[in-house]
Amino acid sequence: MSAASATVTTASPAATRAVAARLAEAARPGDVVLLVGGLGAGKTTFAQGFAAALGVKGPVTSPTFTLVRQYPCRLGQLLHADVYRLEHLAEVEDLGLGELVEEDGVALVEWGDAAAPVLGAVACTVRITRPGDAGTSGGTAAGPAAGPPADIDIDTDTDPRTGARTEPRTVTVEGERRYVEAVA
Ligand SMILES: Nc1ncnc2c1ncn2[C@@H]1O[C@H](COP(=O)(O)OP(=O)(O)OP(=O)(O)O)[C@@H](O)[C@H]1O
Ligand SMILES: [Mg+2]
Repeated sequence: MSAASATVTTASPAATRAVAARLAEAARPGDVVLLVGGLGAGKTTFAQGFAAALGVKGPVTSPTFTLVRQYPCRLGQLLHADVYRLEHLAEVEDLGLGELVEEDGVALVEWGDAAAPVLGAVACTVRITRPGDAGTSGGTAAGPAAGPPADIDIDTDTDPRTGARTEPRTVTVEGERRYVEAVA
């Protein structure tokens, strides 16, 4: 696999959902898509756009306490997992996501980087970072990112659903060419 990747900046949650919808058009049954990013980066927001584009009806909410949610979609089942709370990779393995998607469906795995070794083949890795996030995979553990300099005018609206501030996100897509091309 080549190291091809594409990076886009999204100005709002709606823009993040729109990028996810474009990626969903590239999805095929059997694909595992990893969603990597710090707390509140926008992984679940991304999952919402991806799911809607695959025809999932109804709300897609964080699977933090359920580990995996399953929605019928036009590629079979969409599995949405959040493995952040799992302490041992064996627990991720026990979920059997790889085998489940092989039968029919697509899996979106939040916080997927750490779980990658037990997930088997990954079709696409999506990294979402907030302004001021350090590094490429994790977020900053403590507090909000530092604000922009006062002379830069950025959109600071709040999300009507969550009250969270709308700020740009950097979304980097790596993996199968069809995914990279979907956002390039
Ligand atoms: N450009 C943006 N793209 C995505 N989300 C944004 C953006 N700007 C602000 N937000 C807000 O950031 C929050 C992202 O929350 P979300 O639950 O999607 O993150 P997460 O990565 O799944 O978090 P967790 O680590 O808790 O699972 C939402 O409240 C969303 O409205
Ligand atoms: Mg989440």
